[in-house]
Amino acid sequence: MSRKILVMTGSARRGGNSDLMADAFIRGAEEAGHEVIKYEAAAHPIKGCLYCDTCYSLGGDRACTHDQEFNELAPLYESCDTIVYVTSVFWFTFPAQLKAAMDKMYALMVGKRPFGIKESMLIAVGAGKEDFKYEGLIKSYELTARDRKWKDLGHYIVKGVNDYAAVKETEHLEKIEELGRRI
Ligand SMILES: Cc1cc2nc3c(=O)[nH]c(=O)nc-3n(C[C@H](O)[C@H](O)[C@H](O)COP(=O)(O)O)c2cc1C
Repeated sequence: MSRKILVMTGSARRGGNSDLMADAFIRGAEEAGHEVIKYEAAAHPIKGCLYCDTCYSLGGDRACTHDQEFNELAPLYESCDTIVYVTSVFWFTFPAQLKAAMDKMYALMVGKRPFGIKESMLIAVGAGKEDFKYEGLIKSYELTARDRKWKDLGHYIVKGVNDYAAVKETEHLEKIEELGRRI
């Protein structure tokens, strides 16, 4: 089955660990024939949700009354069928830029828009070596998938990698590329 995959990254470090992991995943997924759109949340600073409940009230595809950046992302939530979060872990959860993009999925609910995403996966990296340092991120991801009734395709966590692009020195990029090939 050919998918339309939205790969959402969280880190602002271009060429950093999670960016390299996203590109490895994309190489594999494209090789397997999937269409992939990479959305770098940190390059499109989406503002936090104001909970004004005026989503889509301006007509057309203007999802957010206050945030043109989100209006460019919203159609991807409608047209893609799979979402893959590829991110560094910040303070036990998603980096703020990515979290803001996730919070605004709420607009599609208010606007009663068709949500295309049916499946999801989490790929993450952090400096910490202990499992508990990833529990918050994984739980937050899993609850999002459960609430949205996405089929959870699982998670792949790279632990103990901190320095810029240090993931290159590990076996993980190859494994993540293979994950993309097998999705
Ligand atoms: C603000 C901030 C918060 C962080 N919080 C965590 C954390 O909670 N747990 C962890 O293991 N690493 C944490 N890290 C380390 C990064 O996750 C780690 O360096 C990662 O490899 C960065 O990936 P990147 O190159 O894609 O940005 C944090 C780093 C920053 C800058």
